[in-house]
Amino acid sequence: MNKKFSIVIAGGGSTFTPGIVAMLLENLDRFPIRQIKFYDNLESRQKQIGDACEILIREKAPEIKFVQTTDPETAFTDVDFVMAHIRVGLYAMREKDEKIPLKYGVVGQETCGPGGIAYGMRSIGGVLELVDYMEKYSPDAWMLNYSNPAAIVAEATRRLKPNSKIINICDMPISIMDRMAKILELESTSELEISYFGLNHFGWWTEIHDKAGKDLMPQLKEYVAQHGYSLPSEIKEGQHVDASWLETFAKAKETYEIDPERLPNTYLQYYFFPEDMVAHTDPQHTRANQVMEGREKHVFGMCNAITAAGSTDNNPVEIDEHASYIVDLARALGMNTGERFLLIVPNDGAVSNFDETAMVEVPCVVGKNGPQAITQGKIPQFQKGLMEQQVSVEKLVVDAWIEGSYQKLWQALSLSRTVPNLRVAKEILDDLIEANQEFWPALK
Ligand code: NAD
Ligand code: G6P
Ligand code: MN
Repeated sequence: MNKKFSIVIAGGGSTFTPGIVAMLLENLDRFPIRQIKFYDNLESRQKQIGDACEILIREKAPEIKFVQTTDPETAFTDVDFVMAHIRVGLYAMREKDEKIPLKYGVVGQETCGPGGIAYGMRSIGGVLELVDYMEKYSPDAWMLNYSNPAAIVAEATRRLKPNSKIINICDMPISIMDRMAKILELESTSELEISYFGLNHFGWWTEIHDKAGKDLMPQLKEYVAQHGYSLPSEIKEGQHVDASWLETFAKAKETYEIDPERLPNTYLQYYFFPEDMVAHTDPQHTRANQVMEGREKHVFGMCNAITAAGSTDNNPVEIDEHASYIVDLARALGMNTGERFLLIVPNDGAVSNFDETAMVEVPCVVGKNGPQAITQGKIPQFQKGLMEQQVSVEKLVVDAWIEGSYQKLWQALSLSRTVPNLRVAKEILDDLIEANQEFWPALK
């Protein structure tokens, strides 16, 4: 019971690393840690985050051993958990993923449509490499992966590493549930008991109760029908606070109208209103630019200031509140708590009228043997049709990556609801191939 855990954060140079470290340090009473290691394949980037986090760890918990390295053996030896958030190709490639489709009037987004497909083709190899390192150096460890695009990465690991201890997770539902709790004037999301089904960035809440069993859906539906997930008094700090995120939360009002029985994930806007998304995007200045000028600049500036001062006194590191589910999930696995989480897992009948081999996002009970999906029953024709199309996109991308198949990737692009026709799909694909030469397998 008194075990102290050893963790490696893969993608140590991520903009999210300091917030996660601060969150881990805040939760040591619930989740004791003896060692934190950072691993990245870009030393110069990781060092800026690592040197500042080392100072933070010394201040808050000097007993924790800290290591930052680019050597896989050093990083992955003697760890219980791999917390993975890598971005293969960095923001420079995110920018291309977003801008190339926009040239053709098509949605340019990190995880949805052609941009998400391009990112998937880069991410699969990077995440598989992390799984290999974990299995070689710490075969009993669990990987909690939030590297995107999570849907495609999850399908690739299901197919190529079927027995690996990897769990894919997303913070979007948690962030939306944070808003739901605020709408309902509840203390926190932990008061919400939910049913949910879908694919990653492609799902719906079907039931929401409080702990006493009171149905909260009627009140939420009435609110969302009027305001989407916009709040009367907007959140000022945290991850989803930029103007573009506020537009996204407001747009849920329209996304909701097509099925008033269920509450939608915000990401559905890209599939239901692709033209609106394009119209609201400046093709010369996309989300990647906003993040480089915003979060990336802020986090690296803060870290460099901490390192220069040798202290966090004048630069307190904000705790990433959303990331607290990562601690809860690690606890569930390491301490067998049997808590519930929304996770991306093999369907295996959880959605009974949907492809058993699909990677779905559903509530799961988590203990020391991993996640057990909670059956969600049959889903309606509308969602089933949408999900079959979208899961086929994701499966075809993985086929294309494995087989090096141009045709399969063209099919994947053509099947995305965001792409209008085969010709545009091909034009975008040819541009993406050109831009991704360094990262994608060769396609024939
Ligand atoms: P970032 O570019 O700041 O950080 C990613 C880090 O990964 C970089 O330091 C980079 O050098 C490193 N990296 C890239 N390829 C690597 C490899 N093969 N091996 C080791 N390290 C590698 O990106 P960010 O914006 O902080 O996001 C990190 C990741 O987390 C992205 O994939 C992002 O999409 C994802 N994310 C997911 C969720 C979710 O809901 N699942 C939420 C937020 C962010
Ligand atoms: C949400 C999603 C993530 C995605 C992120 C992008 O948190 O769940 O999967 O990576 O948004 O946010 P950003 O601020 O980088 O555009
Ligand atoms: Mn996500």
